[in-house]
Amino acid sequence: MSVLIGRKIVVGVSGGIAAYKTAQLIRLLRLAGAQVRVVMTPAAEQFITPLTLQALSGEPVRQSLFDAAHEAAMGHIELARWADLILIAPASADCMARMSAGMADDLLTTICLASEVPIALAPAMNQGMWRNSATAYNVHTLAQRGIAIWGPAEGDQACGETGPGRMLEPEQLLQSVQQFFQGGRANGIRVLLTAGPTREPIDPVRFLSNRSSGKMGFALARAFSSEGAGVTLVSGPVALSTPAGVTRIDVETALEMEAAVMTRVTECDIFVGCAAVADYRPAVVAEQKIKKLAQKRAIELVRNPDILAAVAALPRPPFTVGFAAETERPEEYAQEKRKAKGVDMIAANLVAAAQGGFERDENALIVLWEGGRKALPMTDKQQLAQLLVTQVLIHYEATHSAEDC
Ligand code: PMT
Repeated sequence: MSVLIGRKIVVGVSGGIAAYKTAQLIRLLRLAGAQVRVVMTPAAEQFITPLTLQALSGEPVRQSLFDAAHEAAMGHIELARWADLILIAPASADCMARMSAGMADDLLTTICLASEVPIALAPAMNQGMWRNSATAYNVHTLAQRGIAIWGPAEGDQACGETGPGRMLEPEQLLQSVQQFFQGGRANGIRVLLTAGPTREPIDPVRFLSNRSSGKMGFALARAFSSEGAGVTLVSGPVALSTPAGVTRIDVETALEMEAAVMTRVTECDIFVGCAAVADYRPAVVAEQKIKKLAQKRAIELVRNPDILAAVAALPRPPFTVGFAAETERPEEYAQEKRKAKGVDMIAANLVAAAQGGFERDENALIVLWEGGRKALPMTDKQQLAQLLVTQVLIHYEATHSAEDC
């Protein structure tokens, strides 16, 4: 039986050439049993007529916030409450920018602002607009608020260019809607993650640390959680709020992180080491603040335990995913780390100042596993996390079903 039977979906249409595909999407949603009400922005009407979408949805199409007949009964609030899901397809760069800024200057953005139901966006725009840092910022902001971003795909564009920005095909969007109502792809899976830096004290006021902000690890925790996984996040000191539904354990040093991981790791199915764990710590921590007396001062360092390698070496290890932070030859060094640490999968990123990685909102990864690789191009960390989670789940499922045989 279709999971969409009786589901109420507001399909928002903003201004973009991909609006022609929305006609087919509405048809598919209705065929799958969903009730669909369409809301169009004024720009959308330049690309497809309300009459077409009215015929396909079987309901009057709503266009204006100032429609006296509908708004007599506060129609926008009624629509905001009616829906089980609001899906905006296509979501133009302008529409996302207005949503990101919290604006309510047309019926669609007003409904989104008023609604407490889940919202999904299917972005569609020229590749240059998608790559623009303003759009990346808006997408990041919306994703942080829990709005799902489905797509875009890469390929030939109506403007004659090629790149990311094509709206997903109606069949793919139907699948995303079905998955949304089915529950996440990670339902029942327990994930243990590390994120952020560690701090290794030198004396009561100083420490050794690194530039990790925790953004990548927290984005992963959010992405796993939104797929239905039970997520425990062991975090070094960061200035980020805990993603909804995630259990967080705060630690400071590598030794504390190791203890927090090793006491919980037997209860997880997937372990992801995204933390930038200090490889060394001062051999001795001074009890009092070290005085500025000598011209030179050496600090003796001792190796910290390798948490990732220790997890992978367990007799019954979870599916283990590491990261490799490199300033050169990322793929080569990451491959060496994957083998040396015995992990199932490793995600390599460049972390030299101009390249992303640390602190920034964007990142790019090369994901490596035995006999395979996938490059995930530079994009917002939340989007990237979703793409990485997909890769992890595909390979986790494959390993899992092989073990079950
Ligand atoms: O936090 P952000 O500002 O968003 O930046 C994200 C990031 C760059 C920190 C992240 O994408 C990343 O690369 N994390 C891993 C950083 C790191 O420590 O890389 P590494 O190549 O030194 O370590 C390899 C792997 O071993 C990592 O999975 C690390 O967690 C793990 N490790 C390392 C040392 C150690 N003592 N114990 C470990 O478990």
